[in-house]
Amino acid sequence: MNAVQLASQFQDLYAARPKIFRAPGRVNLIGEHTDYNDGFVMPAAIGFSTYVAIAPRSDRKLLIRSDELDGLHEFDLDHLPEKRIGAWCDYVLGVAWVLRQRGEELAGANLLVHGEVPIGAGLSSSAAVEVASALAVMSLAGTHLPLPEVAKLCREAENNFVGARVGIMDQFVSCLGKAGHALLLDCRSLEFNLAPIPPGIQLVVCNTMVKHDVAAGEYNTRRAECEEGVRFFAKDDPKIRALRDVSVEKLEQSANVLPAVIFKRCSHVIRENQRTLDAARAFKDGDLRRVGDLMRESHCSLRDLYEVSCRELDIMVDSAEGLPGFCGGRMTGGGFGGCTVNLVREKSAADFAAQITERYRIETGITPQIYLCTAEDGAQQVAY
Ligand code: GLA
Repeated sequence: MNAVQLASQFQDLYAARPKIFRAPGRVNLIGEHTDYNDGFVMPAAIGFSTYVAIAPRSDRKLLIRSDELDGLHEFDLDHLPEKRIGAWCDYVLGVAWVLRQRGEELAGANLLVHGEVPIGAGLSSSAAVEVASALAVMSLAGTHLPLPEVAKLCREAENNFVGARVGIMDQFVSCLGKAGHALLLDCRSLEFNLAPIPPGIQLVVCNTMVKHDVAAGEYNTRRAECEEGVRFFAKDDPKIRALRDVSVEKLEQSANVLPAVIFKRCSHVIRENQRTLDAARAFKDGDLRRVGDLMRESHCSLRDLYEVSCRELDIMVDSAEGLPGFCGGRMTGGGFGGCTVNLVREKSAADFAAQITERYRIETGITPQIYLCTAEDGAQQVAY
């Protein structure tokens, strides 16, 4: 569906001409489970977006519908629920709730949401809904915030309203992604550098089509384990506020002191931060072989130390090895299913897609979806 069609559907439902905002999903090239440790990540926005169409109402109601998901959700802006209601509209509602908490005067509105980011695939469909909704609701309220602040408010909605303790990566890149580039983002300072995707390289995203139920619970457990690590290291050095502050030497000295599981989790995060910085440098130098090695190491670490991979992801990663044009790949996102990301030479990308589909299907009996992606711009209002 394009913006004109969405506007016309909106017109049929609400008899008004809407403004439309778009926010993309993302794929993360390297730097996994580092964002909530104040570390480094390297995501790119991709060509799947969520669209939110909006027009004002004269009363204090917020009406939220989707063109494909169930239900018409109606709320009173002055009595918004205090936490998630367990429906897809939670991401929209959460953003309105945060804005209200911050004392913004919101106007009554009709919304229509159209999502193209595959749901449950680890490509940040939720961040895309949050960011597009935030821009839409803010535009009616006349609220202007710099994009990094929009990212923070969306994360707050997800942390405090939806109840998922995610980091800043997804919302940030959905706001500030740049066509043809990944962002090397420092999740502590929110400073970032643009990392051009090398010419002739395609991002091939392979959806395992599984998402294991443990994902959300295990995510929060990993966060708690990292916090335990921080408490341990901070005992000796109060300047340590996050695993970001722990050196590899300090980590190694703790090998026989830290509980084994906590040591594994800390090892992943601390070394993954370094890998991400190294990968950014290798990208700059055009050293794709090095990038490939770092991505492979990242996957092994997520599998063996952080323990957030799963059989299907491992099979998808292994299936890429040796295929023509393949430069490097790994699982991407939170884990326990979802997608792998692969850097593949453009001219081989279609063949790569066909062959990895076959290999994965033989091993698992599941037909994967393969998306040939490029890095795209972050959120914006859509003219139509
Ligand atoms: C999810 C979260 C992100 C990040 C990744 C893991 O996508 O939303 O904040 O923690 O997992 O890197």
